[in-house]
Amino acid sequence: MSNLVVHAKKLYTPTGDKPKRGRELSQIERLQDVYICIDDGIISEITHQRPSSAIRYLSADLVVPGFVDCHTHIPFYGYREFDFLRRTGGFSYLEIHTSGGGIHESVEKLREASLSELICFNLKLVERLFRKGVTTLEGKSGYGLDRENELKQLQVLKVLSKMTPVDLVFTFMGAHAIAKGKSQSEYLQMLVEMLDVVKEECDFVDVFCDVGAFDIENTERYLKIAKEKGFQFRLHADEIERTGATQLAVSLGAVSADHLLKITEEDVRAISESNTIAVLMPATSFYLSDSYAPARELIDSNAIVALGSDFNPGSSAVIEPSFVMHLAVKQLKMSPREVLTAFTLNSASVLKLEKKVGTIEVGKQADMLLYNDADLETLTYLIGIIPDVVIKRGQIFEN
Ligand code: NIG
Ligand code: FE
Repeated sequence: MSNLVVHAKKLYTPTGDKPKRGRELSQIERLQDVYICIDDGIISEITHQRPSSAIRYLSADLVVPGFVDCHTHIPFYGYREFDFLRRTGGFSYLEIHTSGGGIHESVEKLREASLSELICFNLKLVERLFRKGVTTLEGKSGYGLDRENELKQLQVLKVLSKMTPVDLVFTFMGAHAIAKGKSQSEYLQMLVEMLDVVKEECDFVDVFCDVGAFDIENTERYLKIAKEKGFQFRLHADEIERTGATQLAVSLGAVSADHLLKITEEDVRAISESNTIAVLMPATSFYLSDSYAPARELIDSNAIVALGSDFNPGSSAVIEPSFVMHLAVKQLKMSPREVLTAFTLNSASVLKLEKKVGTIEVGKQADMLLYNDADLETLTYLIGIIPDVVIKRGQIFEN
């Protein structure tokens, strides 16, 4: 007798435990009238025969894997409404940032917040995303910009991971902006000194390599040290301007290069021939009224493409996974099938969790979303759609 059986009129899932590249992104499995048996949080069987008994039984029109948001800037504290209004008044993201606002405003807010204020504020955000179908989430530091506050952010993530059912992956992104009053190299030296301490909690290091943030030379030097210390690493690359960060990510063997709004044809070729995952975040382009990453060119050139929200208070104040998926179809010209793979198995691969989550298959963690009155296409069409039920490690959460 299984703990839980989920009957899916339609089950859509990518398959396997490796990221999909190019045309493989659209090769998802579509099963009809199947029963998914779950025991101890793990999928134990998927069968067309209705199991004779179960402790709990659920049925839905559509079942898909839980979404994996591989790029957010949780935790932060408070919002930046005036940034948004300044931008609508004509200022650019970079102008606001280089004049001491933007990320620096969030840094001030975060430094003033206590640990418990940060936990309460961010717990609500994580819970909201979970209800909308995000069952695995990456969060990062980068609004502390000094030792004490970067560690405070990582502490928040640690506490949150105990308080919510969501699987949380932590990234050290001290290299998000240069702390006020420090030179780039002085600041990076401080980060290097922190690496051994944060290694206990983080597997990943990330750098905002762009105009107004860290340059290519310093990024390379810093990441080589992080690599020697055993970190996996990622880059915010070619987001605001084309700096060559995507090619740097490829040449250093980064797990992912994220954003890619401004990449050239050569950059497309370089990342498509590599195992570095292209993480695309169309909500940022939308929010900044900027260009979109060349997703079609990337997929058609055989790249591994994943999706993320980039959820943060400045460049992507968008707490709506269905909108990210909608923009992926509308602006990135991806198909709903490609979107599903990019936001489940491929985004799980960015976090090195592809053997555990991202598909609905025997042996994987039972993380899945149940929808009624919906088909796969509905998920990218109806902005704001939420699953009727979220199942996380076999636990049932009804909306
Ligand atoms: O991914 N580009 C740098 N970091 C974020 C923005 C963070 C912020 O503005 O607070 C991004 O767009
Ligand atoms: Fe980001």
